[in-house]
Amino acid sequence: MTLWGGRFSGKLDPAAWILNTSLPFDQRLAAQDVRGSIAWAGAIFKAQVLTEIEHDAIVKGLFSIAEEFAQHTFVFVESDEDIHTAVERRLGELIGAAAGKLHTGRSRNDQVATDFRMWLLDTLPLLDAAIKGLQSSLITVAERNQATLMPGYTHLQRAQPVTLAHWLLSHFWALQRDRERLVDLRDRVAVLPLGCGALAGTAFPVDREALAAALGFDAPAPNSLDAVSDRDFAAEFLFCTAMLGVHLSKLSENIILFSTTEFGFIELSDAYSTGSSLMPQKKNPDMFELARGKAGTLIGLLTGLITTLKGLPSTYDKDLQEDKQPVFQATDTLLGLLPVLAGALETMTVKPEKMLAAIDANMLATDLADYLVNKGLPFREAHAAAGKAVRLALEKKISLDKLSLDEWQSIGAFESDVYQVFEPINSIEKKNAIGGTSSQSFKIQLQHAKSKI
Ligand code: ARG
Repeated sequence: MTLWGGRFSGKLDPAAWILNTSLPFDQRLAAQDVRGSIAWAGAIFKAQVLTEIEHDAIVKGLFSIAEEFAQHTFVFVESDEDIHTAVERRLGELIGAAAGKLHTGRSRNDQVATDFRMWLLDTLPLLDAAIKGLQSSLITVAERNQATLMPGYTHLQRAQPVTLAHWLLSHFWALQRDRERLVDLRDRVAVLPLGCGALAGTAFPVDREALAAALGFDAPAPNSLDAVSDRDFAAEFLFCTAMLGVHLSKLSENIILFSTTEFGFIELSDAYSTGSSLMPQKKNPDMFELARGKAGTLIGLLTGLITTLKGLPSTYDKDLQEDKQPVFQATDTLLGLLPVLAGALETMTVKPEKMLAAIDANMLATDLADYLVNKGLPFREAHAAAGKAVRLALEKKISLDKLSLDEWQSIGAFESDVYQVFEPINSIEKKNAIGGTSSQSFKIQLQHAKSKI
């Protein structure tokens, strides 16, 4: 028997029943559903809908149900359509007729929106902690590699030398923005739909502000029609997780490249690599490939929900039952992925000599121009002179730093100290303004980063 069967004489088609039920996935809201109901019982008791005896019986029953869920002894029955009806059915079994009063003034529409928001409020700190875990790993590896020089790239072409530490923290800040977005989102999640009824509001004198406070929300939703259908928070959450996925994908794509024989900058530990069933020599960076792949899935989850929302008229429609699975899936994906990436980064072997060897003299051509600027030349002229030097070296098929002093002097205002330009460390230490790769700037950056975790 369903909880809404009164006006029906026929039964739902079995396949339609399976399509309609959300229990297989909304069971995850069990703890929140019970907590929400305990608070609702309190609110309608204060509104004099329940006697003290009824209230006490309902609350006691709900606590037993919470315990059953915690012990995994709660038994679902075939007629349970979703988590809300399952809890109410069980409450009836436990306490009898008084259970039928709990749903007074409430609808599953305000109830499910409330449960879902509570679930997300419970989950946001877990996700924050997992992102923070990866940030900590980036810091750990960065601290070890403050003197490890590597080529920095634009267009995936060698550009200018940087330190590995600086490169690692570039990913830290992207993750920091992801965390900040989730913190910002919390305020929009913490708006309470409960007490809005099916759509028009509740007909009982419920103190919704007290209810919001009791459930850890900041405030009651100000409009009942909006409250029962607002899933912006879910779509926003999925944007946050998709963006995070894109950041992890970028990091991963780099690590995958750096672990190739062609780069050889790092080697992943056995604990985070897999082999090939055919080729005995293979050591594959699967964890990072999975991260890159899952970014696509995360983007798909956002696209799916926001497309569902697009077609809806005002207030609750059953389409909204599609809101929960993408949010659960995005959460599970990231809670599974983030610690693995953290472990893989912390245990990888860095090959500083390979990185240093990949910094060629041409990567210091900008420093050559800066050298002339320091001698008083306008940057455009300096840029042209440095370009001439690059061309001359190319014509002579030698490395830029192997031009003779005579050749340098034929090009421009170069002196014998020009050769110092070709020390990568000198280039790095010049990038000393805030945010640059110099050791001094990096120390400031590192302190700043540490203050965030
Ligand atoms: N299982 C439903 C959902 O997830 C609960 C709300 C049902 N409301 C309704 N009017 N049928 O959205």
